[in-house]
Amino acid sequence: MSRIVVVSNRVPLPSGNAGKAGGLAVALLGLMERRGGLWFGWSGAVTERADAPAFAQRGRVGYATIDLTDAEHRGYYSGYSNGVLWPMLHNLPHLMAFRRQDLETYRRVNRRFAEHLAPLLRDEDRIWVHDYHLMCLPGCLRLRGIRNPTGFYLHVPFPSPDAAAVAPGIRGLVQDVLAADMLGFQTAADRDNFASSAVSFGGALRTGDSTMLCDGRVVRLGVFPAEIAPREFAATAEFQARSESSRLLAKSVQGQALLLGVDRLDPTKGIPERLEAFRRLVARRPGRRVAFLQIAAPSREEVDAYRRLREEIDLAAGSINSEFGEPDWLPLRLLARPQARDTLAGFMRLARVGVVTPLRDGMNLVAKEYVAAQDPADPGVLVLSRFAGAAAQLGSSLMVNPHDAEGVAEALQMALDMPLAERRARWRAAWDAIADTSPEGWGERFLRSLSSDDLAAMPV
Ligand code: ADP
Ligand code: G6P
Repeated sequence: MSRIVVVSNRVPLPSGNAGKAGGLAVALLGLMERRGGLWFGWSGAVTERADAPAFAQRGRVGYATIDLTDAEHRGYYSGYSNGVLWPMLHNLPHLMAFRRQDLETYRRVNRRFAEHLAPLLRDEDRIWVHDYHLMCLPGCLRLRGIRNPTGFYLHVPFPSPDAAAVAPGIRGLVQDVLAADMLGFQTAADRDNFASSAVSFGGALRTGDSTMLCDGRVVRLGVFPAEIAPREFAATAEFQARSESSRLLAKSVQGQALLLGVDRLDPTKGIPERLEAFRRLVARRPGRRVAFLQIAAPSREEVDAYRRLREEIDLAAGSINSEFGEPDWLPLRLLARPQARDTLAGFMRLARVGVVTPLRDGMNLVAKEYVAAQDPADPGVLVLSRFAGAAAQLGSSLMVNPHDAEGVAEALQMALDMPLAERRARWRAAWDAIADTSPEGWGERFLRSLSSDDLAAMPV
């Protein structure tokens, strides 16, 4: 079996930078632990002189990571990746803050990744590049003469060509992505949007749902929704629901229905809009107490939009509690810090309503985790944004438009009042949609497609 070389900006190192929650690391860790291979990326450290890679090993996974200098971190990570590409890809262009030198740094860091990765590669390796931080990397590797089969997977959405064009530099990036052999997306819409951009400004020709022709080469496209390990997560949730932290939470809500939000503190997650919907929910049911626990792990705190969001959420939370709180009750609990994933699993099982309302999201693994965590005999209800990739699989949830605060409040109300039989039926349909999926299955499917020469066997 050929070795897999995964390349991503964020790497969950054995030494533990695991506090940095994120779907990419969660999806890839299970796959890599089972299959083994080399994982190359950023060490998470910002140092004065960033030189050669450092190596580590855990089980069958070898890690090779490089540090970033302060200027690289600011330009490549905070500046162009998270200040331009992230908002553009989620169709929130008003949050973009472009500086030309950040684009230059982004390109330079992608070249540095290629320079340090190339000497570690063996002939039989298959290379799998991940996410929007590394869109130049396939092109940079080809320029260095690397001919290994190379895949690129985008964990986030891709918007229409018009929306993509607002990000200065995107044309060159699309062309560099097209140097890969196989491109993977979360949904068919993301795949089609990317293909339209490849045609509009990458000079490619679309020859089928899963194929494009680019400079005389066939580039393949596929849809691979990211997955969790549902049965494992369910077992953790069942166990953790009896833990001390879950017991204390249950005791503190004193029999009130618990609503739960779990996110990175990110502008795409729709947290202010969600708090506004909750405000309306509380206002429309005087005398009927509920408890809303919002856990928001601080993320990308160097980026202005994220700092502003933190202030906005703190203000909104304070004003809900001061307006509706009673001496013996506060409706909202906001925790701006990460929690252990196991602890979260227990909390999810206790929550009568899972509130997952991003403005836009590639997939949203929290939605799948909430479904997996439920007690089949007495399951809670998932209120889910129709703009999350997960909506394509979890159609039995209460689907909402996160911009419609009144509509979300109605859905929350409906979730709280839903009879057991309906909760069971909706949950069962959601569980059936994910029960037989796994991060390993997701990865294997991508990797099979990467090595397959049989175009007819391509996923659509
Ligand atoms: P994203 O990739 O944008 O962060 P996802 O929902 O796809 O969003 O994945 C997030 C992952 O990180 C999930 O596995 C989730 O349980 C975890 N996570 C999200 N928020 C927190 C938090 N506040 N504390 C700890 N883990 C979190
Ligand atoms: C999303 C992105 C990942 C990223 C994660 C956490 O899942 O798709 O690429 O790793 O968020 O963000 P961070 O900036 O902390 O790596």
